Amino acid sequence: MPDKTLIERHRAVMPSWLTLLYEEPISLVRGKERRVWDAYGNEYLDFFGGILTTMSGHGVEEVLDAIREQAGKILHTSTQYLIESQVELAERIADLAPVPDAKVFFCCSGSEANETALLLAASARRSNQVIALRNSYHGRSFATVAVTGNRSWSPSAFSPLSVSYVHGGYMYRSPLGQLADSDYIDAGVQDLRNVIETTTSGTVACMIAEPIQGVGGFATPPDGYFGAMKEVLDEYGILFVSDEVQTGWGRTGDHFWGIEAHGAVPDAITFAKGIGNGLTIAGVAARAEIMDSLAANSISTFGGNPLSTAAALANLTYLLEHDLQANALKVGSHLKALLKSAAENTPVVGDVRGKGLMLGIELVRPPGKTAAPDLASRVLEECRARGLLVGRGGLYGNVIRIAPPLSVTMEEANEAAEILAAALAAAAAD
Ligand SMILES: Cc1ncc(COP(=O)(O)O)c(C=O)c1O
Repeated sequence: MPDKTLIERHRAVMPSWLTLLYEEPISLVRGKERRVWDAYGNEYLDFFGGILTTMSGHGVEEVLDAIREQAGKILHTSTQYLIESQVELAERIADLAPVPDAKVFFCCSGSEANETALLLAASARRSNQVIALRNSYHGRSFATVAVTGNRSWSPSAFSPLSVSYVHGGYMYRSPLGQLADSDYIDAGVQDLRNVIETTTSGTVACMIAEPIQGVGGFATPPDGYFGAMKEVLDEYGILFVSDEVQTGWGRTGDHFWGIEAHGAVPDAITFAKGIGNGLTIAGVAARAEIMDSLAANSISTFGGNPLSTAAALANLTYLLEHDLQANALKVGSHLKALLKSAAENTPVVGDVRGKGLMLGIELVRPPGKTAAPDLASRVLEECRARGLLVGRGGLYGNVIRIAPPLSVTMEEANEAAEILAAALAAAAAD
């Protein structure tokens, strides 16, 4: 159908709920480092990395070489055979994971990783009761939608789990948000205890939480929040699953895993997105006792396949050898300071938050905190017009999400901050 544009063809055959960014959606056809090009040859600075997934940058030669080499040998064998790169990657992740005595299972998406962690916890604890956080996002599958505390991403109330929600890190709109950090933590802990005692039968499988809520607009609790909660979970024998799909691999700058800012040792972590730098790989690292608690066989046909594990190994090596975590801390802190100073003269900015290279700008209609998703759309369009791609999120779709590859340079951060400042000023003038 050569007379139809790609967007018309997309709308005709793809689900209405698979939404696209921008009034005129973009088709990206090429990338190098932190730059991408669309089908018309327009160049953009990529500050969202395909939803925090292009972690090391586009076209990293070391990763591409590993992919080419593996593709020349064999693409697929299945988990019914030994795969050396899969075993090696599991060994390396088990070493890096903040989970004691970890075993690793590979699958293909963050949803599937969380689905697995929920199944493991339910099986280990013989319970389908789960605690999740308000404003969370854990995926698109049946159980992960059930633990997602954001109506825009939770299309069904039907659930294989019985879920109770507790307060999380979205302080900007929390009724507890005016409290000092230590009081906010105490209130969260009291809320957790109260929810366990009033809404569950007492045998709860797990609590699942993102250390920084991604889709929820980079809502960031005070350091120590989950450590304090974990003490309550331990009292009740409730497992703790840290969803590191967005916060893993050093993105938060100060730690390799987001949960490490909290002094909490999780029973399982889930990961996806960045580890494959674009190849499809995800998984769970769980305490061996929990991982081995399934009483029947379970496989993921594509999980940990030779191609994606070869790419992930090369990507992990690149990440560690170039200390991209330190870069995330350095460039992220610099960028946050620039954004904060741009926000000072821009009353439509309600909040600038986040850590490392996970930074959010929440847009509001002053004088109050009325969410302004229309202004977020405007900022997105203004950035695009000036050659910068950023993301959006938040409970009301009014948060700009800034999450470039962890290899981003200071010069690129300066360039992006200048564009964002101009885009915010344009939105404020509306
Ligand atoms: C924190 C978190 N968990 C899980 C998921 C689901 O991952 P996927 O889209 O790969 O299924 C996402 C996706 O954005 C996420 O941000």
